[in-house]
Amino acid sequence: MKDKIIIKRSDFIFAKRLLWKMRNKNTQFDAKQFMSKGRDYLYEYAEKNAGPLDPSRRAFLKGILIGIGVITVASAIPLVTSLNPQEVSIKKFPWMIIVDSNGNPIQASTYPVNDPTIMLFQYPLLGDITFLLNMGDENNKPVSIPPTDVVIPQTGQKYHFPGGVGPYNSIVAYSAICQHLGCTPPEIHFYPPQYFKPGGTPPNFLPPTAYSAAVANNAKSVIHCDCHGSTYDPWHGAAVITGPTVRPLPYVQLYWDSSTDYLYAVSMNLDAPPIMDHPSDLQGAAYLDSYDESTGCPKLLLSKNQTPSNCYTEMQNDGDTFNGGSS
Ligand code: FES
Repeated sequence: MKDKIIIKRSDFIFAKRLLWKMRNKNTQFDAKQFMSKGRDYLYEYAEKNAGPLDPSRRAFLKGILIGIGVITVASAIPLVTSLNPQEVSIKKFPWMIIVDSNGNPIQASTYPVNDPTIMLFQYPLLGDITFLLNMGDENNKPVSIPPTDVVIPQTGQKYHFPGGVGPYNSIVAYSAICQHLGCTPPEIHFYPPQYFKPGGTPPNFLPPTAYSAAVANNAKSVIHCDCHGSTYDPWHGAAVITGPTVRPLPYVQLYWDSSTDYLYAVSMNLDAPPIMDHPSDLQGAAYLDSYDESTGCPKLLLSKNQTPSNCYTEMQNDGDTFNGGSS
């Protein structure tokens, strides 16, 4: 029997945050400095970018380093995170208002179109990072994203994607965790239609095979993962354009409140493949920081007219409709 590796939930979250920072080009981990300064550089980096290092976290980081080459520290962390058992579950999807980094609700009518600075939010559980994208044409005019059926290449089955929301039905949300092996931004990122219009210049970092496949599929824009080349079509439910992934990116169903212009994440489609490494979208590593275990609601993110008794989404079978009332 294989040994079981137990990782504390707090260490798992810490490792996820650290990995995110290591991959972010603004806070990228410097392997050369690590080679010259060793463990001290890692501790210093982790403390600055992922939070305070108590003795247990220091021991955790030390554990990662044992038995691996110094250059591989960044690649060891995904291995550690993938060992994590799914630790928490929710009964239903919470209704969550989407806010910016200052805590102000995003306003759909002014949300940037085709913006390369993509907003990410976490839903439904901690670490479940999700792209919020406002689809537009090559002139950055919002484009309505219609409902469609999405094929899962792995099984040949289909599920329903309900289309975009907002004043132009142009806003969509997809998991930002690649369905192949779990790479996250900046490795997986969005390319707007300016690159794909007739006579457009292929983006530097998009391999010719992915570019040709996108053009051949008449894709107007793509989400592409640099790790191994998976490409998804955000105008069509993040369907797969090129592998190696055999699963589309799961979508988060949004609701636009036209009276306030606010956007809400309200559910996911349980017929779609779950977020990478999750047995179900209702299970994950940990509750959101704002989750209140006593009520089961995200306590900071309730809209004004919500109470703990109505913060959940009632899913209909096709994942297409919902109501905000409790059962
Ligand atoms: S993890 Fe994205 S293509 Fe492999």
